[in-house]
Amino acid sequence: MLVTSRSYAEYEAMFDLKELPDSVLDCCAGGASFTAEAAERGVDAIAVDPAYELETPELVDSVRQSLPATSGIVDEHQGSFVWTWYGSPDRKDQYRIEAADRFLQDITTAPQRYVAAGLPDLPFGDRRFELVLCSHLLFTWSDKYDRDWHAAALRELIRVSNAEVRIFPLVTQGAGDPIPWLPELLDSLEGVTSEIRKVPYEFQVGADEMLVITRT
Ligand SMILES: C[S@@+](CC[C@H](N)C(=O)[O-])C[C@H]1O[C@@H](n2cnc3c(N)ncnc32)[C@H](O)[C@@H]1O
Repeated sequence: MLVTSRSYAEYEAMFDLKELPDSVLDCCAGGASFTAEAAERGVDAIAVDPAYELETPELVDSVRQSLPATSGIVDEHQGSFVWTWYGSPDRKDQYRIEAADRFLQDITTAPQRYVAAGLPDLPFGDRRFELVLCSHLLFTWSDKYDRDWHAAALRELIRVSNAEVRIFPLVTQGAGDPIPWLPELLDSLEGVTSEIRKVPYEFQVGADEMLVITRT
């Protein structure tokens, strides 16, 4: 799986973020710069990803390799992507390169913000974070992780959240297929409400919605 490096600006649009709460978890943060930039804004921001177990040279390599690999996926599925948000492939690459640089600098200077762990078992207490974000793992990789894994992962994301979990996108990587079992999965969740909400971001055609799960 690619260890991609989306920027704060991409997260802001994918999750339609206005103001951030006091604490935020980026779960499956990869090489994203969201945590570094949120921390700079004074937020208690933590990133979690199993890739943080890698030795530094391997992690750097994985993050750097994700850019050409992502472009390869886009080239392979050209009709499945639109450039309205990014403007051009160069602009997208620029976001990702800057985000990777920012992430690699932050994980070196503030390693306490980066936790090596993975769903469905997170090493955090119940309700630890006001907001939990998940970009490009759940649903995106549903060819790799099955429905039962998704159910366990969703329950874990809810457990560590005190208010809200937001997940983007709601389609598979590459082809952008919808997830047929998503409505049933959401119905099975207890103690929460879920809503599919439009966001001001689209790259994969039709992937302009996030899932918002709120504790009741
Ligand atoms: C496509 S990247 C997304 C990275 C970042 N959120 C972004 O939007 O650029 C997917 C990430 O999920 C991580 N991952 C894979 N399995 C995971 C798991 N079980 N729990 C948490 N993260 C996982 C990978 O290491 C990878 O960094």
